[in-house]
Amino acid sequence: MKAVRTIEELRSGIRALQINLGPEATVGLVPTMGYLHEGHASLIRRARKDNGIVVVSIFVNPIQFGPGEDYETYPRDEARDLALAEAEGADLVFLPSVETMYPQPTKTKIMVSDITTRLCGASRPGHFDGVTTVVSKLFNIVQPDKGYFGMKDVQQVAVLQQMVQDLNMNVEIVPCPIVREEDGLALSSRNVYLSEEERRQALVLSRSLREAAAAVSEGTAVTAGDIRNLLKRVISQSPLADIEYAEVVSFPGLQPYPDDEEISRKDEAVLMALAVRFGRTRLIDNRLFNPKEAN
Ligand code: PAJ
Repeated sequence: MKAVRTIEELRSGIRALQINLGPEATVGLVPTMGYLHEGHASLIRRARKDNGIVVVSIFVNPIQFGPGEDYETYPRDEARDLALAEAEGADLVFLPSVETMYPQPTKTKIMVSDITTRLCGASRPGHFDGVTTVVSKLFNIVQPDKGYFGMKDVQQVAVLQQMVQDLNMNVEIVPCPIVREEDGLALSSRNVYLSEEERRQALVLSRSLREAAAAVSEGTAVTAGDIRNLLKRVISQSPLADIEYAEVVSFPGLQPYPDDEEISRKDEAVLMALAVRFGRTRLIDNRLFNPKEAN
């Protein structure tokens, strides 16, 4: 494995591998902000399985953080990240500086409309513009055949799928399942911010999603309103939880269902999505299900 910091080194590294492996070797890209955990590792493994060449990028992208968010304090551990990427079989790790990615403030941004205004977009204005802009830059730099993204950030997946479709980008977005701790907490680089008590109470996210899915299949929750109420009731059992949203929307369109809409009979993917604050830490989780199949 080779770690590189400049665009030139990365491009020549990819070219060298392509010459070695031949034209059939596809390129898989796993974009990350580092502080890698088993969730990231699962994406690298999937990319390794699918492709001849695996590139991992590690870049804490300043333009996707809002004022007052955790850009400065975002956890970093380059040595550990490199060891993990190597262990999972990455060929190249790209660790650009902010100056490499943004030699001057970018005057060009990629903005996906509509679906970026809901859920996380409502409380993080500009966040998804930062994501789509940096991911477009990485796609242009690496020119991957496939990009690997976790369903942990389900709205990010929907937004990036819309972007590649709208702009005819020749990259397949590959969604990968959420990796959880044994007790259900979805892995996140931000989990290190949680105190012991917050960490314990944070289990209400996955628990509420599980209970809501069970209630739909048992017929005790029928409408979108029933599901919203159930999610909020379970989460509120944790005194430290401050709910930002507990939503029931279509996927990948992310359209909220009216409270009286009967979800239990829907024959399409339904997404339950949560954002909950514990102190200064904002956690997200979600569950995608097909109600008809669950019944
Ligand atoms: P980051 O939060 O580092 O996440 C990198 C990738 O890992 C994302 O696709 C994310 O969904 C995935 N991931 C995180 N936790 C996961 C889990 N528990 N299970 C499965 N996948 C998980 O998302 C970003 O970085 C940035 O927005 C980025 C796409 C790199 C653009 O800057």
